[in-house]
Amino acid sequence: MIYLNGSFMPIEEARIPVLDRGFIFGDGVYELIPVYSRRPFRLKEHLRRLQHSLDGIRLENPHSEEEWANLIRQVISRNEGEDQSVYLQVTRGVAKRDHAFPKGVAPTVYIMSSPLLTPPRDQVATGVSAITASDNRWMRCDIKATALLPNVLLRQLAVDAGAVETVLLRDGFLTEGSASNIFLAKDGVLLAPPKSHLMLPGITYDVVLELADAHRVPFEVREISETELRGADEILLTSSTKEVLPITGLDGRPVGNGKPGPVFQRLYLLYQEYKATVMRNGG
Ligand code: PDD
Repeated sequence: MIYLNGSFMPIEEARIPVLDRGFIFGDGVYELIPVYSRRPFRLKEHLRRLQHSLDGIRLENPHSEEEWANLIRQVISRNEGEDQSVYLQVTRGVAKRDHAFPKGVAPTVYIMSSPLLTPPRDQVATGVSAITASDNRWMRCDIKATALLPNVLLRQLAVDAGAVETVLLRDGFLTEGSASNIFLAKDGVLLAPPKSHLMLPGITYDVVLELADAHRVPFEVREISETELRGADEILLTSSTKEVLPITGLDGRPVGNGKPGPVFQRLYLLYQEYKATVMRNGG
């Protein structure tokens, strides 16, 4: 069951006009919210980031925080499964094709849910491989835009190479992954690139840094060079669906000793514990 512009319906019955600007221009923004035990995780933070994305594309938020929370809860309750992945999208609506913003057009609001597929055990146990590529996206990667063609092409490079993620470098510095944030660890210190218009401010990224801070895992938030990336003891990937995952191979070479390291192990456990506590307390 999905939500589309005021109605709930089976996904097979949902229809979007071909002139929707989301279809024609990729003129929209989205969020992906993990749901554990039927409770949305870090909902406030996701809705705050949605507001940031809407502001970034100059589109008025069609709903208050309470309305969003209510719609999302309804979608969750109308779908099966304790753990879900809620995807919501807002586009600039339906209008005759013209690049300029249409006047007086209602935005399209769409919410769907799918089962939350977190990484299989063996990926957590042995890590995944990644490749690097030049970050050729636009300069507003802080907006969670539905126009994801560069991310799609970059991610496919990883798939073509038999890897799981593409780690992006812009002007010799680490930005993020094609659909994740990237951290590294060197001599026991967790390193994270600073938030800027060149990366998506990940909700999981924030959780990991908060946990590092609260549990005295040494960390630094600063620019990370390609040399540091290639010389890292550990590389970690974070996202709402992948949670925290070790990258143990980069461009066909082992990262550190090629096994998930102690910084990953610590943060993975802290993340799982934190998740359980938050969900016990109501999400
Ligand atoms: N993507 N960077 C990019 C480019 C992303 O697409 C994502 C997440 C992240 C991690 O953000 P968060 O921790 O808030 O999930 C970073 C989602 C999962 C997606 O597009 O499916």
